[in-house]
Amino acid sequence: MQEIVRRADRCRVCGRDDWLDVVSFGETPLAGDFLPPDAPPGAERRAPLEVAVCRGCRLMSLRHVVDPEALFGHYRYVSSESDLIMNHMRRLVADAGLDAGDLVVEFGSNTGVHLELFRRAGMRVVGVDPARNLAEIANGRGVETVAEPFTATVGARVAARHGRAAMVLGRQCFAHIHDVHEVLDGVNAVLDPAGVLAVEVPYLVELLASDEFDTIFHEHLSYFSLGTLRTLFGMHGLRVVDVRTAPVHGGSIVVYAAPRASARDERPAVARMLAREDELGLSGDGPYLEFARRTETARAEIGDLVRSLAAEGRTVAGYGAPAKGSTLLNACGLTSEHVRFCTDTTALKQGRLMPGSRVPIVAPEEGLARRPDYFLLLAWNYADEIIGRERAYLEAGGRFIVPVPRPRVVSAPSAVAAP
Ligand code: TYD
Ligand code: ZN
Repeated sequence: MQEIVRRADRCRVCGRDDWLDVVSFGETPLAGDFLPPDAPPGAERRAPLEVAVCRGCRLMSLRHVVDPEALFGHYRYVSSESDLIMNHMRRLVADAGLDAGDLVVEFGSNTGVHLELFRRAGMRVVGVDPARNLAEIANGRGVETVAEPFTATVGARVAARHGRAAMVLGRQCFAHIHDVHEVLDGVNAVLDPAGVLAVEVPYLVELLASDEFDTIFHEHLSYFSLGTLRTLFGMHGLRVVDVRTAPVHGGSIVVYAAPRASARDERPAVARMLAREDELGLSGDGPYLEFARRTETARAEIGDLVRSLAAEGRTVAGYGAPAKGSTLLNACGLTSEHVRFCTDTTALKQGRLMPGSRVPIVAPEEGLARRPDYFLLLAWNYADEIIGRERAYLEAGGRFIVPVPRPRVVSAPSAVAAP
């Protein structure tokens, strides 16, 4: 791993080297390394997974950076088309207040499925994504996509070809990028002076409040508060003008920023959220250290529950094979001995193994047909949608284990009591 992982001593936002250590999961497999079934032992690439907080700008961050090409060059995470995400996306499009013909540039645009919503609303769209396999899918569906990381050069090239963007969008990818300054240079190279940048990230406050320790994996380099994003954007002449919360990926925020000279007013939600972050003590050490303590308890509780069910002869399977499921299984010491298989809708993952735990991934129909006694809901960020949909499984006596914030078992009130 020497060649693809390095320790980053300087904070990617403020450049300081002064860290509060928070949690360490030790040498951990890369969560997206879904293995072929015949992978020899040790085939998964591993890197240290350690979290710390910068004492300068309070960025919560991984201490190690894995080469982005190794993580994203061929990427098996495909943008969600779940009801939850599509409804959220439709709201973003409606709230953007753009006119027909306006240019929307999305970085981390994946298969282009979300840009397509802007296109249908009459906007011109360009995607940028380093995953060549996904950019190809996007181009195939007619969403022009540049298969490269988003940089100042790429931003300038898009501007030269298509003009300036009324909106630059980065959904659930900003926290995956080490050189955030390069990305913001890219934004400035393509954003219209009257345009707006919209960045959606999982919200640090939700991660801490709901003990979402499994959302920590090598792809997620940064865990942002609004305060830290504001500091970062400010370094690039971008002023935060609005912020909204969104119930996706464990609780996210969409932060809107505009060039400093822009006429946009700052909405009251910004000051409110910053004040709340202050009240929560994010500038001190307490919330992070308490989270670290609760993480250790959660790891033990989830692991003990699943191991004891397996020891009693109950079958447990994973519902979903998300990257966070890799962290969860590995951090809780669970393997294919305890969790027989995971179901996942993503064709690119089916037939493969979860890295580390080596739990095989199957299609949802196959997994449901095998009727495990318990589904460990690894994709808990879609809990309402999934549990609502799998009523028949519950009615037949099946149960879900929702692992965070604390493991809880869900069964149908009317179900035949499962032993
Ligand atoms: P997600 O939680 O979006 O992301 P991450 O990998 O960052 O943790 O991944 C959810 C996974 O769960 C994805 O592989 C698709 C899968 N999934 C299902 O199998 N069934 C479902 O009903 C839903 C909503 C997701
Ligand atoms: Zn910093």
